[in-house]
Amino acid sequence: MPARSEQLEATLSNFESDHALLDPSQFARRFAVEEELERLFGDKVSESEYTRALSRRARALQLALEKIDSQLFADLRSQIRSGICPAEFRACIHNQSSSATGLDFDHLDDLVSGVLRFEPPPEEPRTLSPDSVFYQPTPARHIFRLISAAAITEADTLIDLGSGLGHVPLLVSICTGATSIGIELDPALIASAEQCAAALSLRNITFRAQDAREADLSAGTVFYLYTPFTGATLASVLNSLRTQAGLRPIRICTFGPCTSTLTEQPWLRPSSPPTTDQITVFTPLS
Ligand SMILES: C[S@@+](CC[C@H](N)C(=O)[O-])C[C@H]1O[C@@H](n2cnc3c(N)ncnc32)[C@H](O)[C@@H]1O
Repeated sequence: MPARSEQLEATLSNFESDHALLDPSQFARRFAVEEELERLFGDKVSESEYTRALSRRARALQLALEKIDSQLFADLRSQIRSGICPAEFRACIHNQSSSATGLDFDHLDDLVSGVLRFEPPPEEPRTLSPDSVFYQPTPARHIFRLISAAAITEADTLIDLGSGLGHVPLLVSICTGATSIGIELDPALIASAEQCAAALSLRNITFRAQDAREADLSAGTVFYLYTPFTGATLASVLNSLRTQAGLRPIRICTFGPCTSTLTEQPWLRPSSPPTTDQITVFTPLS
């Protein structure tokens, strides 16, 4: 037997005998093994009956792990429908330190998308104005970090300006009980977000298909911007936020390049040294 096949066999046997993988709570561990199985066996053309047999074993293990993931997602959905924030999400809020950086996605994004289960919006690309930034979700670890960094509670109303599919308002409402509002230009994204909120019986969440420049911001105590727009549109929305800041205490949270624009605003103070690949919380100077 070639040495490479022996190595594959040994790795696969290790995974097959790792009983911790069967524990539903071990999602991160399963995710790592599923990625490794994909890397080792995914698109390989098997040269021999022996390696074909290994690939079949790998596929069987993959399916068994996916079944445990599906059951976990169903259990977490059922907890959310009963008004409970799952322990798996609460742990993420406590574990996200300020060292959560980067724009890449990880196992938490898989966990969150398995639980939220969005109906994909139609593929047609929407024509955006030159100031508008295309849809890209905030990586889940940064959303959990946002919840702890901005100390969001049930008493808050979060407004996500340019909410896309709604990951931020959905997770904030699920995890904190806060009221959330998502403002988004693209009605197809709003339809998917609304469908997700309805399927999870979330009542303290609203999505509005509109331009952020025209949105009613009067309910917000926490505002979130993952670089949804630039230029004159960002300037106009920042003007509106400044007006809101004169009326009541608010926090403005950012992620991505728009953080630099907010850092230049003399009426705002960041709570930590601002960087574009971390959540920054700004408070208005009184
Ligand atoms: C980078 S994505 C952020 C999505 C979401 N906030 C998140 O973090 O997961 C920016 C979103 O802003 C939306 N957008 C762009 N211009 C907008 C505007 N003028 N008013 C409302 N939404 C806008 C885009 O359609 C896109 O979905």
